[in-house]
Amino acid sequence: MSEFRPEPQRFDPARYPHLLAPLRAGRLSLRNRLVHASMTTRMARDARVTTPLIDYYANRARGGAAMVVTEPLSTASHQQLPHKVRAWNDDDVAGLARWAEAVERHDCRLLAQIQDPGRGRHERGRNPAAIGPSALPDDLSWSVPRALEAAEIRRMTEEFAASSHRLELAGFSGVEISAGHGHLFHQFLSPWSNRRDDEYGGDFDGRLRFLADLVAAIRASCGPSFLLGLKLPGDDGVPGGIGPELAAKIAQALCRGGNVDYACFTWGSHARTLDWHLPDMNWPRAPFVSLTAELRRAIPGTPVMAVGLITDPAEAEGILAQDKADLIALGRPLVTDPAWLRKAAEGREGEIRYCVSCNSCWGTIVEHRALACDNNPRVGTPDEADWRPPRAATRRRIAIVGGGVAGLEAAWVAASRGHEVTLFGASAELGGKTRLHARLPGGESLSSVYDYQQVAARRAGVRFEIGVQATSADVLALEPDTVLLATGSRLSFPESLPALWSEEGLVPDLRSLVAELLDRTQRQPGTVLLYDHDHTEGTYAAAELLERLFERVVIVTPRERIAADVPLVTALGIHRRFARLGIEVRPLHELSAESRLEDGVALLSNVYTGQLTEVDDVAVITYSTPRVPTLALAAPLRAAGLEVRCIGDCRMPRGVMAATAEGCEAALSL
Ligand SMILES: Cc1cc2nc3c(=O)[nH]c(=O)nc-3n(C[C@H](O)[C@H](O)[C@H](O)COP(=O)(O)O)c2cc1C
Repeated sequence: MSEFRPEPQRFDPARYPHLLAPLRAGRLSLRNRLVHASMTTRMARDARVTTPLIDYYANRARGGAAMVVTEPLSTASHQQLPHKVRAWNDDDVAGLARWAEAVERHDCRLLAQIQDPGRGRHERGRNPAAIGPSALPDDLSWSVPRALEAAEIRRMTEEFAASSHRLELAGFSGVEISAGHGHLFHQFLSPWSNRRDDEYGGDFDGRLRFLADLVAAIRASCGPSFLLGLKLPGDDGVPGGIGPELAAKIAQALCRGGNVDYACFTWGSHARTLDWHLPDMNWPRAPFVSLTAELRRAIPGTPVMAVGLITDPAEAEGILAQDKADLIALGRPLVTDPAWLRKAAEGREGEIRYCVSCNSCWGTIVEHRALACDNNPRVGTPDEADWRPPRAATRRRIAIVGGGVAGLEAAWVAASRGHEVTLFGASAELGGKTRLHARLPGGESLSSVYDYQQVAARRAGVRFEIGVQATSADVLALEPDTVLLATGSRLSFPESLPALWSEEGLVPDLRSLVAELLDRTQRQPGTVLLYDHDHTEGTYAAAELLERLFERVVIVTPRERIAADVPLVTALGIHRRFARLGIEVRPLHELSAESRLEDGVALLSNVYTGQLTEVDDVAVITYSTPRVPTLALAAPLRAAGLEVRCIGDCRMPRGVMAATAEGCEAALSL
C-alpha cells in the first residue's frame, strides 16, 4: 500500500523565488515572505497561555511562516476577558515565555497583537463594556460607547507600551497594533466615529494622536530591535469613514520617521462591510491586492503586507513578483494547512489542504468556541503541521458507506493507518452534498475539501465501489470488522403541506431541483418559491442559481430573517447579493396547504396571525428544510452482528466541519 506522503523532497528556494526570498529591511530580518495574520483562537483559558494555544502557533512556525502575529492579547488593565492572554501584569510571564520560545526556535518572529474592540460587537446584543472616542453607536450592534477621557487614553497608551516591554522581556520579537477592522484605534482615526474636540480629535492630527503617541511610546519603552507593525484601514467602506485617500494620508503620517517596521492594509469596518475583512468564497481571489499596491506607493521604505483571500502559493509568488507587496499575510489558509509554505517549497503543493474561504472558522470563535476548520479537523493539535495518521497496531477491514466528506475523510485517514478500506458511494462522483454545493454560484472552492480527500484516499489504497447503492448484502460480503455509515440525510417535506404533494412530485426538494437544473442556461418565465426552514449557506447559493434561471425568486421563511445559521460575515454577503439580484424575502410566513398549485398560486400564512398572502405566477415551489438522517443500513447490519458507527449527517445533520471532524475521529479510533 502506498504512503500518503511521497518521499520528502529538498526545500528548493528556486520553486518560489520571491515567496521564499529572505527580507532584510531595517529592523526586519525574515527568512521568507510568509506571515501568519492575527486570528483570535479562543484557546487561552483564564487569561493564560495553554498548551493547545502554543501548539497552534508553533505548528505555523514549523510549517514555514517567517513571522507569526498572534491573536489580540490583553495589554491594558481594562481588558479582562478570560479568552485573551493577559500581558498587562506578571500573572503569566512564564506562559508568555514558553509561547515565544516555541515559535522563535523555528527562526520565526513572534509578534503579539495589541487591539481593543472599542465600541464594536458582532455577537447579538449590545457591548456592555463599549468604549470609544465619542458616544456614537457601533455600526453593527448599535452599542453606544462611553467616550474615553483624555486621562484614560494617556493611561492606556502607557499600559500598552509597558505590556510591549513585558512581551519583549518574555521573548517576543515585537508587537502589531491592530488599527483596522473598525476597532478602537480605527474608531479614533475615522471622522465617522471620532467627533471629539479635544487633543484626540477635532482634525486629522488630533484623530491620529492616540495611535501616533502609542507608536512613539512603544518605541521609547522597548529595545532598538523590537519590531512594531501596524494593521491599518485601507478602505473601510463606511460613508464618511476612511477611504483609500485618507488611508494613504494616515499611513504616511504614521510611517514617517522610521518607527514602523511594516504596514498591513485591511478592509471593511465594524459595519455592513465587516465581511470585507475576510472575503468569502463568493469574492474574486486576492481582491485587495491592487489597492494594497497603490497604498504601498504612499509609504516607500516601509514594507507592506498583502492580506485577504490569497490561498495559493502561486498567487502569493505572483503578487510579490509583480512588486505589489513585500510580504504575504495569510489568515485562514494557515488555519487549514499550517505547513502550506513547507509543502510548496518542497514541491508538494498537491498535499496542501486549501482554505475554501467558508468562514466557518470565524463562526466558531464568534460562538465562543476554539478556532476550528471545515477542511482541517486537527487545528491546535501538537503534531498538526504535515500530519500523517499514525499506523494502527492491528490492520482491520473497514467498510465505509457514503462518499460524502465524512466518509471520504474517514477513508483516507483509516487507509493511511494501514487498514484495508472499501468505500461504497451511491453516486458515481465523490463529494456528496458538498459536491452539489460546489457547483452552485460561489461554491467552486469547496471542491478542495473532497478533492484533497479523494487524492489522499487513492494514494493510501482505498478501494472504491461507487455509482451503485450499496445493500447490506454488499457490505456483509466484505466481512468487515467495522462499518462506518456516512449515508447522509434527506430534506424533510414541509409539515404545513399535504404529503400527497410530495408523493406526486408536485413540490420537489431544493437539492433534487437544483441537481436537475444545473446544466440549464435558458431563463424560464415564472416565480420560484423557496421555502427556507434551513438557514445554511447552500440554500442561498441554490437561490442564486434559481435567480439565473427564473424570472423571480421569492424566499419564504418562518423566522424573522434569513441566513440565521451562517456566520454574520457570510450573512452580510448573502443580504448584499440578494439585494443586488432582486431576490425577495418573505419572513415570518409558512407555506399554506390552501395554495392552488394548478393555478400557479402560492398562499403564505403569517406565523402570528395566520393571515394569507398570495404569490402569483408560481412555476415551482421547492423547500430546504431540517434534514432526516438516512439510516436504512444501520439496523440490518447490526442485526447481522456487525459493529456499525454513524458519522456525519446520518449521525446528526450538521455541516461540513462536523462531518470531516467525525470522519477523522472515527478513523483514528479504529
Ligand atoms: C477566525 C478569524 C479571526 C480573526 N481575528 C483577527 C484578530 O483578532 N485581529 C486581526 O487583526 N485580524 C483578525 N482576523 C483577520 C485576519 O487577520 C485576516 O486579516 C483575514 O482573515 C484576511 O486574511 P485571509 O483571507 O488570509 O484569511 C481574523 C480572521 C479570522 C478568519
